[in-house]
Amino acid sequence: MAIAPFLAELERLREDASSALRDAGDEAALESARVEFLGARSGRLKAIQKLLGGLAPSDRPAGGRHFNDAKAAITDLLAAARERLAGQGGSAVDAIDVTLPGDPVRLGHLHPITRTIRQVQEIMSRLGFESVDGPEVEDQWHNFEALAIGPEHPARDPLDNFYLAVARGADPLLLRSQTSTVQIRVMEKRRPPLRIVSLGRVYRPDTADATHYPMFHQVEGLLVERGTTMAHLKSTLRFLASSFLGGDGNVRIRPSFFPFTEPSVEVDMEWGGRWIEMGGAGMVDPAVLEAVGYDPDEVSGFAFGLGVERIAARRYGVADIRDFYRNDVRFLQQF
Ligand code: PHE
Repeated sequence: MAIAPFLAELERLREDASSALRDAGDEAALESARVEFLGARSGRLKAIQKLLGGLAPSDRPAGGRHFNDAKAAITDLLAAARERLAGQGGSAVDAIDVTLPGDPVRLGHLHPITRTIRQVQEIMSRLGFESVDGPEVEDQWHNFEALAIGPEHPARDPLDNFYLAVARGADPLLLRSQTSTVQIRVMEKRRPPLRIVSLGRVYRPDTADATHYPMFHQVEGLLVERGTTMAHLKSTLRFLASSFLGGDGNVRIRPSFFPFTEPSVEVDMEWGGRWIEMGGAGMVDPAVLEAVGYDPDEVSGFAFGLGVERIAARRYGVADIRDFYRNDVRFLQQF
């Protein structure tokens, strides 16, 4: 056999192998191409190798070299095709089972306390109460003095407050123990008429138990207008109770004492046939109005301060307020 037809044969084989391996779309096609071209017994390369012996002896070295080149090239093409298929993870249609259910997207939601705060803000806004904020780190004036809680008052006891170790001499800062501070902050800046509500954190060094926590939230309401009476206070509390808790919104007030209200009352709300204590309230003491530059002969006002955890616990049937702060998703998911 002459060298020229031998080389032509080799070249055709190389082209056929190249296109077969390039087109192989899956493992089976690849394997059948491998057997066709590189098969040890009846592969086409093997068949050509047999032709080598029929070449003239002087042509054999060149023929052998071309044969080896072709074999190496086809082997490389096979390896490349294997890699390509592996990279695809086989055929795309086989690899992805489109009938499998998807991974559910887990959406969180607002914490029950945050939700309660927003609901109370919304309810109070219907009566024209504007939501305002105040600082959680307070001075003695706003937490005590302007609220007529004098230096000797037991509420100022270091054991009942979180005083901060900041050098301010006789006037140490503290974490506010009540949101009534916001009454003062707003009245100092604005003139009556005034309707504000402020919901936020307060701090008291109480031992945590089912009904106490060293940090909790209060809702503070304040209204100062001409001719305000206890009747306005009670209707406002009733509106809040019935809107938030549902039902008749029965509210009971009992005589009490706060240095910054006169008269002062405890506020109970009816829930499930029982009276639950929700906080304190009263008519703003004329001394407080004077301390912020209002004329008590011109305007009068009422204020109330209720425990947010208490009303949230009632509404959602939570027996232990510590559950609000454990961050146990099994608890939080229920809301
Ligand atoms: N600040 C009082 C408390 O924390 C509650 C209160 C608010 C009482 C407003 C009267 C008026 O106990």
